[in-house]
Amino acid sequence: MEKVAPRFAGRHLITLEDFTKEEIDYMLKVSRDLKNAFYANEPTDWLTNKTGFLMFFEQSTRTRNSFESGMAQLGGHATFLDTSMMQIAHGESAKDTAVILSSFGHMIACRYCNWGLGNKYIREMAKYSTVPIINLQCDLYHPMQALADLMTIEDEFGHTEHLKVSVIWAMATTHKKPISVPVSQVLLFPRYGIDVTLAYPEGYDLPDWVIEKARKNAAEHGGSLTITHDMDAAYRDADVVFPKNWGSWVTNQSTTVVDDALLALKAWKCTPDKMALAKPGCRYMHALPADRVNEVVDEVIDGPQSVVYEEAENRIHTAKAVMALFVHDKLPSDRR
Ligand code: CP
Repeated sequence: MEKVAPRFAGRHLITLEDFTKEEIDYMLKVSRDLKNAFYANEPTDWLTNKTGFLMFFEQSTRTRNSFESGMAQLGGHATFLDTSMMQIAHGESAKDTAVILSSFGHMIACRYCNWGLGNKYIREMAKYSTVPIINLQCDLYHPMQALADLMTIEDEFGHTEHLKVSVIWAMATTHKKPISVPVSQVLLFPRYGIDVTLAYPEGYDLPDWVIEKARKNAAEHGGSLTITHDMDAAYRDADVVFPKNWGSWVTNQSTTVVDDALLALKAWKCTPDKMALAKPGCRYMHALPADRVNEVVDEVIDGPQSVVYEEAENRIHTAKAVMALFVHDKLPSDRR
């Protein structure tokens, strides 16, 4: 029997947890089709006359530009909205913003990473929007990053089963970063049979519900999740390492970025010595931007094991796939 392609129209993308493995595989298939078309200079104007809104509460290089350029390459138009210049800054509600913007276009994508606020805000918009809401990173999830990470691992190895992939906390002083990247990785990767090691110093825990769900995903799909406070154990024999900072939001909600406790963790840095513990073919990955002073040294991020630019490039192909699949024709039933 012929397989029916998954349907995404009318749905929101807030977390990949809301999608089956088959649906995620389909997102990656379309990403690869679009990547091939991009390199073949073939037009992919699948969203002619469609418009979307890109709301950003915080800074972005990859996410903003992959969606903005991606929408143009699909034949549509994306409007960048700095929320500090919207009436949100004067207190306009998520409901009113979602109702109005969804009556103007075909998609609302939003980044809002404030701890305890971002995910709630995006879900509130999703309650009232008549068009897809796409999460461009919140305090809990970064589905677009996880999708590009998975695509890159598949591209590099040709499979995912029983790869040792280590998500490793690293020191950074730039800002107190959300936990959304490691949360999305530990939830998604075990669904692909990956053996995930999560390594972090005391105090940088991910929420208990994330660990429980990641273990459930692992049990259902043949992967595993190991948690350690031993950084070297995470590097040892790894196929892929993701040494990256995240904030201690779960145990300490202070917004202070640098304190003595953080500075005591300078050893949590990716260096050639650490990479030497991993398998010779181990790939170094990072969502970027990287703190090249504290998280990683240039020798690694600019070295032969680094695939950070391939990973970043996959952001545009996955962004285009998500827009192509989720954005749909407006129907009279979309009227409120
Ligand atoms: N990785 C990522 O989301 O990058 P930006 O913050 O630049 O969008």
